[in-house]
Amino acid sequence: MTTLGRPTIFPRTSYGSRRPSVSSSRQKADEEMTSLDGAVVLITGANGGIGTELVAQALARGASKVYATARTPRSWSDERVVPLALDVADGASVESVLRAAPDVTVLINNAGASASTGSILAQSDEEIRSNVETNLVGPLALARAYAPTLAAHGGNTAIVNIHSALSWYAIAGIYSATKAGLWSVTNSLRLELQPAGVQVLGVHVGYVDTAMAAHSAEPKLDPADFVAMVFDTLEAGGIELLADDTSRRVKAGLSAPLEAVYPQLAAGA
Ligand SMILES: NC(=O)c1ccc[n+]([C@@H]2O[C@H](COP(=O)([O-])OP(=O)(O)OC[C@H]3O[C@@H](n4cnc5c(N)ncnc54)[C@H](OP(=O)(O)O)[C@@H]3O)[C@@H](O)[C@H]2O)c1
Repeated sequence: MTTLGRPTIFPRTSYGSRRPSVSSSRQKADEEMTSLDGAVVLITGANGGIGTELVAQALARGASKVYATARTPRSWSDERVVPLALDVADGASVESVLRAAPDVTVLINNAGASASTGSILAQSDEEIRSNVETNLVGPLALARAYAPTLAAHGGNTAIVNIHSALSWYAIAGIYSATKAGLWSVTNSLRLELQPAGVQVLGVHVGYVDTAMAAHSAEPKLDPADFVAMVFDTLEAGGIELLADDTSRRVKAGLSAPLEAVYPQLAAGA
């Protein structure tokens, strides 16, 4: 692994000359693509709406083993599934999973918790801490725990982090903050793990039709369609997936003045 130099705050290349991408998924050399065929996949939050679909579709794509981790593991009908207890917010639980599942080649940080309110001022100290532990510290701890194994494998290994369109839109209080933090973590992991051939894929999406989005009447992606996009992007060597119009629109708006992103800030609004 290379030593990282001093970060360049303003890159020298001009973004203006680049073609805009719909889903900025980069095609990589064959040896840097990750195939799910024969992979050993660990999925956090496997009992949830997206997690259940990740388990099913990893199996359908030929995974040899899927560690379906959850705070309260359930049983699965496929013998390739190994249910494991994992609370991502608990460091001891992460260490114990690393011991129980040392052969992972694809880590999917999917577990996440929403917040009770969109107000970062109204949220309790306890909720702030717990949301940060679950959505940010936990996925980072798992990535750090598995990085040496993934890097030593010699390719065909990956980390997939499920962010949100809310990584770039601060209307969900601490939830937005944790997803923004996780996006940054993903970018750092990618830079540090790319030399070892570990693919790091960050995923952004607006709404997916699961329990987490039950409160919303906005259009939602079907979890099966969403997960198919995630795995198509992974197997094509992609490093970032913008899975829907919402995430594409929010990312495209980042360079606009803040008053355009948040019209309530405009004078007289
Ligand atoms: N649904 C959406 O619209 C949407 C949009 C953007 C991003 N996402 C992200 O997608 C991911 C999956 O969410 P989902 O839509 O499938 O929601 P979901 O059905 O509510 O599933 C979330 C899962 O995360 C698990 N979890 C929560 N805290 C945990 C912890 N400390 N340790 C381990 N597992 C924990 C939950 O487990 P329990 O069953 O034990 O509570 C649950 O199984 C999350 O990271 C979420 O932020 C979702």
